[in-house]
Amino acid sequence: MNQALEVIRNRRSIRRFRPEQIAEHELEAIVESALFAPSAMNGQPWHFTVIQERRTLERMAQLMRENMLKSGNEFMVRRASDPSFSPFYNAPTLILITADAKDKFGQFDCAAAAQNIALAAESLGMGSCIMAMSAILFESEEGVELARSLGVPDGYVHVCTVALGYKDGPNPQVPPRKMDVVNYVK
Ligand SMILES: Cc1cc2nc3c(=O)[nH]c(=O)nc-3n(C[C@H](O)[C@H](O)[C@H](O)COP(=O)(O)O)c2cc1C
Repeated sequence: MNQALEVIRNRRSIRRFRPEQIAEHELEAIVESALFAPSAMNGQPWHFTVIQERRTLERMAQLMRENMLKSGNEFMVRRASDPSFSPFYNAPTLILITADAKDKFGQFDCAAAAQNIALAAESLGMGSCIMAMSAILFESEEGVELARSLGVPDGYVHVCTVALGYKDGPNPQVPPRKMDVVNYVK
């Protein structure tokens, strides 16, 4: 297997991170990998907010918990009520990916960028976790204000966040894959 295929196979969603910040040159390489993702008609209808400021990460985690508790969704309320629950797994870096709401393929394009980030992180021996649950962060007045204060452009909507950091331990086991979802016609 070549290196690219190995990285694809080895990448796992990492939910335990070491507290130290990732190196600047690694962050730059990871962000660049997002900018080089494919996009429909090369529209690049994405925006990336890289958050490393501890105070802001803590505020986001707190708001996430509050919105989950207010959601009325049983699963969300149960998770947020667990005192050990850390919405972003205490990752030292979080990349918020938002898409131009007017772009028909914004979600697809941003998903490709998120995967590039995850693969770049794995290739550098770092951990990542793509999270869509973070959508709930922006489902309140405070969340809308937060997005504004983070510099998310007007008209851009949440697609996902990606937690990034050095792994605290070995990769978890591969969650089972469905292997019977391919039909070859040849
Ligand atoms: C669109 C999308 C949304 C996800 N949302 C979350 C999330 O909110 N929280 C989380 O811990 N993991 C999330 N994950 C990670 C999945 O749980 C994970 O990819 C899946 O269980 C397979 O495990 P693997 O990534 O280690 O192969 C998400 C993954 C994707 C692609």
